[in-house]
Amino acid sequence: MHFVESEFAKRVNPSETLAVTTLIAELRRQGKNVIDLGAGEPDFETPEHIKAAGIRAIETGKTKYTPNVGTLSLREAICRKLYSDFGAQYEPKQVVVSNGAKQSIHNTVLALCNPGDEVIIPSPYWVSYPEQVKMAEAVPRFLPGEEANDFKIKPEALAREVNASTKLILLNNPSNPTGTVYTKQELQALIEVLRKHEVWILADEIYLKLVYRGSATASLATFPEIRDRLLLVNGFSKSYAMTGWRLGYVVAPPPVANAVAKIQSHTTSNPCSISQEAGFAALEGSEEALMAMRTQFEARRDFVHAAVSQWPGVSARLPGGAFYVFCNVAQVLGRKYRDKTISSPSVLCQLLVEHAGVALVGGEAFGSTRHVRISYANSMENLREAMHRLQRAFEEIAAV
Ligand SMILES: Cc1ncc(COP(=O)(O)O)c(C=O)c1O
Repeated sequence: MHFVESEFAKRVNPSETLAVTTLIAELRRQGKNVIDLGAGEPDFETPEHIKAAGIRAIETGKTKYTPNVGTLSLREAICRKLYSDFGAQYEPKQVVVSNGAKQSIHNTVLALCNPGDEVIIPSPYWVSYPEQVKMAEAVPRFLPGEEANDFKIKPEALAREVNASTKLILLNNPSNPTGTVYTKQELQALIEVLRKHEVWILADEIYLKLVYRGSATASLATFPEIRDRLLLVNGFSKSYAMTGWRLGYVVAPPPVANAVAKIQSHTTSNPCSISQEAGFAALEGSEEALMAMRTQFEARRDFVHAAVSQWPGVSARLPGGAFYVFCNVAQVLGRKYRDKTISSPSVLCQLLVEHAGVALVGGEAFGSTRHVRISYANSMENLREAMHRLQRAFEEIAAV
């Protein structure tokens, strides 16, 4: 039978970050020793009390469908957390729990956007945003943040970009891939611009618990003046090392939450019942494990950033949060490495994985033709070895 991809499928590009994972698996099968600094996944184990809650859920028969929007107890726990963390008062009917923040964003974009609506995406951006916007037949409008300004977008530039067709802005703070963290004042200035227009704000705050020394920020939930237009997305993958449990949520004004719930009811129904019990334990339990992870991430950030600063032809801003260093490799492009021309960041990454045994992700996946992303969600031992290998590779490139 001849297959012709649907127009819907044609609109979507495959995930370049997942492609790196596939390439690493292939090289490892061939016996190559590859250190993976591509994946955006904490290397830590899910904390014990969270795992135990998952096991208990299975043993006590919490293995059935739950309400489509998630259990009431989890949604209540999310509201309690939003109140204790940010003083923000929300009701469970405003919360829809999904199979990961990725699904929450997808559902929310689908619930809001009509074909042709414009969605502002500050760039560099998380790889899935443009694809999710295109799936809704909406139009991504990229707003570049300047590297010299830590990749942050400026209010004046935002004011120029917003127009009558703008439906939504996707604000990711702290940012994947740059690790950029907006201060509360900077967020306030962006809000001032957005409030002059009928624009929804989707705040993807999945890295908000991972902000390091020297940086401070605020949740958009702490700005009451935008509460009626705020779609607050968060998840358990990054802060609680729960990537495989697939659990995230959106908190939104009730009509939006209802539309999101309706969409989800015909796709995945509810998120996994077992994961929801584990998520409840994550929110209600001690944050000691989270704090310990954050301390380790901070030490790795400092180590990796210092290492990158030694490489000839490469530079990087000090990221304030998340677990990525976004390296500018513009000076290396056009040079040779092992007889091949480094024509783009993704070619550089292919050559590095093959010859240096370290996997990174080319900036193209995030809207940059001048950068590569290092994920430091890996052990210090692996990071030491990887930084050493990359130092040698960039010295070799500089010497040709
Ligand atoms: C910025 C950002 N948002 C959302 C997600 C999705 O997280 P999950 O679907 O695992 O909750 C990720 C994961 O990489 C991310 O980096």
